[in-house]
Amino acid sequence: MTNLNQNSSDQRKADHIALTELAQTKASSVDSRFDYEPLFSAHPSLDEWRRPTEFLGKTLKAPLWISSMTGGTKEALTINKNLAQVAREFGLGFGLGSCRSLLESNDRLGDFDFRGVIGDELPFYANLGIAQIEQLQVKKETSKIHNLIEKLKVDGLIIHINPLQEWFQPEGDRYQKPALETIESLLNEVSFPVIVKEVGQGMGPRSLKALMKLPLAAIDFGAFGGTNFSKMELLRDVSDENHREDGLQFVGHTAGEMLSHVNQILDSNEQGIKCRSFIISGGIRSALQGHELVSSCLGNAVYAQAKPFLDHARVGIEDLRKFVLDQLLELEMAKRFLEIRAN
Ligand SMILES: Cc1cc2nc3c(=O)[nH]c(=O)nc-3n(C[C@H](O)[C@H](O)[C@H](O)COP(=O)(O)O)c2cc1C
Repeated sequence: MTNLNQNSSDQRKADHIALTELAQTKASSVDSRFDYEPLFSAHPSLDEWRRPTEFLGKTLKAPLWISSMTGGTKEALTINKNLAQVAREFGLGFGLGSCRSLLESNDRLGDFDFRGVIGDELPFYANLGIAQIEQLQVKKETSKIHNLIEKLKVDGLIIHINPLQEWFQPEGDRYQKPALETIESLLNEVSFPVIVKEVGQGMGPRSLKALMKLPLAAIDFGAFGGTNFSKMELLRDVSDENHREDGLQFVGHTAGEMLSHVNQILDSNEQGIKCRSFIISGGIRSALQGHELVSSCLGNAVYAQAKPFLDHARVGIEDLRKFVLDQLLELEMAKRFLEIRAN
């Protein structure tokens, strides 16, 4: 034992000398979002990642949410199974990808049917596009939404608002009326919790304020700065090369910008604000970024990711577990040793 320690200590000292050149940083690269306060905490042990967080009437074990993604293909089943498993193990919120295929048939039910895995204690939400809801309203078939909620045993519904994606999608739907009207009529009809999100472009202050005045369970940012579905659809559309440089793919709002708008609205004490819960998502690529945004939110917030979860869920459950644990431990280190710097 003594020899091993001696050897590893010798090796460490040799590593330090060899790596000094590479270990240089520039003062300009300092992360100025935080004050680093090393005096006041101990390290977390590997199982001290839990940070119980009240959200949507349930208790998450950490303030992290798995953003709505996928379903309806063979790979999607494996991805969703892995995501459901880590949601349960780490106590995370889980939004399913679009459940449109289940409105008409149960053929793909297995891709989405994970309440049994996740358990009743955690938030688990179905997902539909606003275009599908509008069409169901026109055909007076909104009972299909109730059926969907019941058959998946979900807590409620996430509605994605994606006019730019639909515009660029070769087979995309067209909205016949403003999304806000469709949401308002749905809310008049249903009693289950409803969340509204974008899909990677975010939304501006007027839309945010209008949503915050509705009795929504939460608003999921789906902000600009990560996965971009306008770009995704343009990449898919090999038939129309001329559309590829369309500037509409670059409009939108980052998560930081959306949070400033939300905070301004909450801070103004404006009358009639009903929704104060937020899933901060879209381009969140690190626990530090999530920590900074969640800690700065004047409402009740968690942060969410899509692509990072997808990347690891595709590799396999062990890789995904390690990704989540590493992220939650980084979050815990941030909570213990960092303070958000006042602007
Ligand atoms: C493969 C994939 C599929 C997605 N499918 C849906 C969907 O069905 N419904 C939805 O609301 N959002 C969907 N999204 C958007 C994400 O929920 C999220 O808003 C967006 O990817 C931005 O987050 P990110 O930058 O962390 O990837 C999807 C994202 C990915 C990567």
